Amino acid sequence: MLAGRAVPNRDLDKSLGRRGNVESKPLFLTVPEPWRSPALAEFPSLGLGVALREPHFEQILTQWPAIDWFEATPENHLGPATVARAVLRRVAERYPVALHSVSIGISGLAEPRRTYLQALKQLADEVKAVWISDHLGPRDRLAADETRVAFLDEDLLARTCARVRRVQDALERPLVLENPSSVAGSQQATMSEPEFLRCLCEETDCGLLLDVANVYASCLNGGVDPRLYLDAVPWERVVQLHVGGLEWSGRQVVDTHEGPVDVAVWELFRTAWRRSGGASTSLEWDGAVPALPRLHAEVLRARAYMPGGSASDEGLVERRRGEGDLVAAQAHLATKSVL
Ligand SMILES: [Fe+2]
Repeated sequence: MLAGRAVPNRDLDKSLGRRGNVESKPLFLTVPEPWRSPALAEFPSLGLGVALREPHFEQILTQWPAIDWFEATPENHLGPATVARAVLRRVAERYPVALHSVSIGISGLAEPRRTYLQALKQLADEVKAVWISDHLGPRDRLAADETRVAFLDEDLLARTCARVRRVQDALERPLVLENPSSVAGSQQATMSEPEFLRCLCEETDCGLLLDVANVYASCLNGGVDPRLYLDAVPWERVVQLHVGGLEWSGRQVVDTHEGPVDVAVWELFRTAWRRSGGASTSLEWDGAVPALPRLHAEVLRARAYMPGGSASDEGLVERRRGEGDLVAAQAHLATKSVL
């Protein structure tokens, strides 16, 4: 339901693309109510989910735990006659499943592989995937970090839009794209990242998977207030949120996808969840994957940051590992007048 469309403030939007040059006024003249683009209106709000991981297969198939939904990495399930594919089929009979690809390479130099897209579509049809997502960037994650500057200009926007249209045609459904995590800001960008995402969505009718941890890492590394980044997000396009672990290396914030979610990320999630109208949320914990109950407990911490949530919801888990890391990062970056 739309109570009032947000009106972008282009002056501030431009400022988001520059290091240490943000103003403290709201980006939108009115705060948007939860609303979703008509092209994405059928995408449901699934609740709080976790990634589907091989160490948990047996427990899931025997106990059917009360988890809202699963996010599966299709590359782990593409083999036509594998155990992993059979497991995903069975899981999908009981739970909503979204596919989170890492191989399309929507912004890379090479065209996405047609055989991969065909296999991805076949898998999505087979398990009735609620949507297919991938990352804004090339196939290689390191390359994605190194080429962030190239993302933020009109040439790359045009190339990426054309690529998204071709991929959506191949998949026969809207694609959902995730904001990258960046290790450095860009002095040469002509567009801010939220502006790039908004243009991409408007041109192609694709959806957004907003990784809140990536927003936090990119903003701190790039010298942008993450609250202003969130002000600039095209919320009507956001169908999913990610949360995940971060670490402070001493020079930059890195999205490790390992360990508990820092309270600073949860605080951004509080805003993101409300402004997205309660978008489906999943936890990324890829390294040293814990037991399923621990993984589930971590994503359930999100409840403490929803309306009516309380600190007691946080009591589900032990003290966050590395909790002091991001406090140190914030203190360090505050000296650069970022926060
Ligand atoms: Fe993510």
